[in-house]
Amino acid sequence: MSVCVGIVGQGYVGLPMAIAAAASGFEVIGIDTDEKKVATIMSGRSTIEDLSDLEIKAQIGRGKYLVSTDFKKLSFAKIILVCVPTPLSTNRKPDLSYFISAIESVSKVMGKNTLIIIESTVEPGTTRNLVLPILEKGSKLNSNEFELAFSPERVDPSNQLWTIRNTPKIVSGLTRESKTHASNFYKKIIEVVIECESLEIAETAKLLENSFRLINISFINELTIFCQKLNIDVNEVIKAASTKPYGFMPFHPSIGVGGHCIPVDPLYLTNKAREIGAPTRFIDLADQINQEMPGYFVGRAEEKIGGLKSKKVLVIGVSYKPNVADIRETPVEALILGLKNKGAEVFWHDDLVKEWNGEKSVDLSNKYDLAILATPHTYLDLTKLGDMPILNTRGSI
Ligand SMILES: NC(=O)c1ccc[n+]([C@@H]2O[C@H](COP(=O)([O-])OP(=O)(O)OC[C@H]3O[C@@H](n4cnc5c(N)ncnc54)[C@H](O)[C@@H]3O)[C@@H](O)[C@H]2O)c1
Repeated sequence: MSVCVGIVGQGYVGLPMAIAAAASGFEVIGIDTDEKKVATIMSGRSTIEDLSDLEIKAQIGRGKYLVSTDFKKLSFAKIILVCVPTPLSTNRKPDLSYFISAIESVSKVMGKNTLIIIESTVEPGTTRNLVLPILEKGSKLNSNEFELAFSPERVDPSNQLWTIRNTPKIVSGLTRESKTHASNFYKKIIEVVIECESLEIAETAKLLENSFRLINISFINELTIFCQKLNIDVNEVIKAASTKPYGFMPFHPSIGVGGHCIPVDPLYLTNKAREIGAPTRFIDLADQINQEMPGYFVGRAEEKIGGLKSKKVLVIGVSYKPNVADIRETPVEALILGLKNKGAEVFWHDDLVKEWNGEKSVDLSNKYDLAILATPHTYLDLTKLGDMPILNTRGSI
């Protein structure tokens, strides 16, 4: 008989994991508090770009996957993964409300000997000091009567090369047994599994990975400003530097970072650093540069068409990165606000997002004073813009 796996949170992380686990032979129960999402998935429709309707229908059809809002269904699960959001609050502090609520719900239904695996991004110490006591209290079990592991997700939406199966996965456990058990589970789904010495090493590794990206993206954006002022094509600079076979990794210009990971996770690290009195100056500066990028492009737009007052501006691509519909933390929101504050009439086009902030995507056409290429989705046919002025945020001079 196949092992029953519960996956709490059926979003960008939980849904692909659920389908991959079901395809690998597990009986998967997805749990999500969003009733509309549950109904959509159960009707065989995908809610994310990287999974087709067919892939979801196939697992539902085989009886290997179902989604529900009912946590009680998890009482059959031998392994439970937690993949719920860990965003920032309005004052840019870690918001653990979804996470704590999910752990509490799990604690009330988990049986003896269940393996709980945390996949949500958290700051070091969270699995041991926050999750463990909640699970013990809610389940009325002692820590030696269940297993606890932490394994950060590395999903990169729309990345065709690195998928859930071939991206190596880090695994850590409260005990050696928890780690081995979690590791054996992932080995059935993922090609390479790496075991870490402690929960805290794995928790911090995830924050390091995303802080590294934030810092380097912000650095290349600052270098883009330097190159633009000198009339040097930054993309050609990056291409030339990338010929160095060691010690260099290319990052590419943009309007800033977005999504649920890169702008958020480093602030989980800085939050912990503040608590223990450790400096995080690189992250603080990178965060500041990143936040200034939309304002920089508002200034470039003003320069390009001699002021923005009463000008019609078309912003192209509003999601946080090309080829996804995810608008969480998108820097394009600050760009649009900045343009409006300067008196521009702003329209936006994005066939992946379609509706956003009560507005609808407009057609791609040349009837505007300026187009700003914010997020260059592959489907875009820029010839429709004719000879309209275009400001490219991706590094053209
Ligand atoms: N999106 C990414 O690319 C990515 C990559 C790596 C890691 N992560 C991390 O994975 C975690 C999940 O991110 P995501 O992008 O999948 O989020 P998401 O918003 O796409 O999905 C999370 C799902 O959890 C559901 N949910 C919220 N509270 C719940 C609760 N109490 N019980 C059950 N379901 C609940 C939501 O309805 C949503 O469908 C976060 O910690 C994130 O930092 C995300």
